[in-house]
Amino acid sequence: MRFYLRTFGCQMNELDSELVAQKLRESGFVETSSPSKAELIIVNTCAVRQKAEERAKKYIWDWKRKNKTIIAIGCVAQVFSDELRRMGADLVFGPRSYDNLPRVLSELKVGCVPKGVFSDGEMAITFSDISLKREVSKKRFSAFITIQEGCDKVCTFCIVPKTRGREISRPPDKILKEAKILEEQGVVEITLLGQNVDSYYHKGTDFADLLKLLDESTSFKRIRFTTSHPADINYKVVKVIANSKRITHWIHLPLQAGSTTILREMKRFYTKEEFVELAKMIRREIPDVTISTDIMVGYPGETDQDFQDTLDVVESVEFDNAYTFIYSKRPGTPAALRQDQVPREVAGKRLRVLIDVVNRKMMKRRKLMLGNTFELLIEGASRKDREWSKGKTKGNITCVVPGRFKPGTFLDVKIVDIRGLTPVGEPIDVLDSVGVNT
Ligand code: SAH
Ligand code: F3S
Repeated sequence: MRFYLRTFGCQMNELDSELVAQKLRESGFVETSSPSKAELIIVNTCAVRQKAEERAKKYIWDWKRKNKTIIAIGCVAQVFSDELRRMGADLVFGPRSYDNLPRVLSELKVGCVPKGVFSDGEMAITFSDISLKREVSKKRFSAFITIQEGCDKVCTFCIVPKTRGREISRPPDKILKEAKILEEQGVVEITLLGQNVDSYYHKGTDFADLLKLLDESTSFKRIRFTTSHPADINYKVVKVIANSKRITHWIHLPLQAGSTTILREMKRFYTKEEFVELAKMIRREIPDVTISTDIMVGYPGETDQDFQDTLDVVESVEFDNAYTFIYSKRPGTPAALRQDQVPREVAGKRLRVLIDVVNRKMMKRRKLMLGNTFELLIEGASRKDREWSKGKTKGNITCVVPGRFKPGTFLDVKIVDIRGLTPVGEPIDVLDSVGVNT
């Protein structure tokens, strides 16, 4: 039986999908790259904002009408399984039940589909045996590794603790073992995944220790991690990053809001001033660091003055990248119950103002790159022009460079121009040859 897997949402979903696909292949299912050729469509859903949820639901609805067998997995599957069944999903699996998939699917034959909801599993697939037998394609040069599942924070806007459950840190030896397996298969860059990597803790090993262990015991060219939490990141972690040549000097540090009042209401556990100080400390200790962030506008009760505080922080920290969102009401979260929701038009207007300030600051940071040399890890052809390649700096900034380079190639470039917000590089030398200049 052929299956097609569609993934919505974050990097954790991407990794889950990779492992689910591997598990299905091992059980005799054949993966296809086209949904119309598949009998079975697996939809990995995202619940973080309403729009993402709706897109996944529509996808399920559309393919069900074409008579496919549909399996819904992911965060929406965990909390809104009934709705997904109504949309046409035959089977629904929450994120800690994926290990049951092959067993259930072995009962599946064309014309005879078991139906049901599986949402009370014990273990995330990223902690299961399958991740210690990972097989990545020869073309892969970058891979994710889960270090932690779930989240114990209580941010009042966020549905993740409900969908992904309590926070569990994975034993360091398992993480290292998986890293070694990836290394042997030619992966040159890993990204450690957790909702709040700074709270990683397993029997005496904290996040700084884990980073150090991976730095000392593997030979990846780049070790990245996401996401940091402003209330939990500490000086020890920052020092480990600063002292490493391979742990990338990039920190994703979600601000969410700049107003101390709003931050308190969100239960983020830091103030405006503490965030600004933290960013300053990070830039002082790691001079070539890039800091990216997530920012939300229109949290319930947000006033013009609160929004101004967000702009102040952006002005002062000068983020290198920022994902900006309008607050989206998530069922079952404390913020969704508030009566003082901000009107959509007000939030939309704030978002446009925010994006302007964010972009101006990003431009200022990009200009500092002009004339300097950066190592790019080539990811593929540029979308706009196939004769150009795009790649990322160690600071996670996407740059373009003339010429076709193989994905996985390391290339030193001098930044000679900025187009839009994308730095343009001039190749200096092909440093390494995971791929070769073609
Ligand atoms: N711990 C994860 C959070 C995952 S959610 C992390 O820090 O990356 C990713 C981002 O989505 C959050 O940082 C937040 O900015 C945004 N987000 C979460 N819930 C949201 C909501 N209800 N409305 C709008 N954006 C939200
Ligand atoms: Fe969500 Fe806050 Fe955890 S944003 S994932 S509850 S750190």
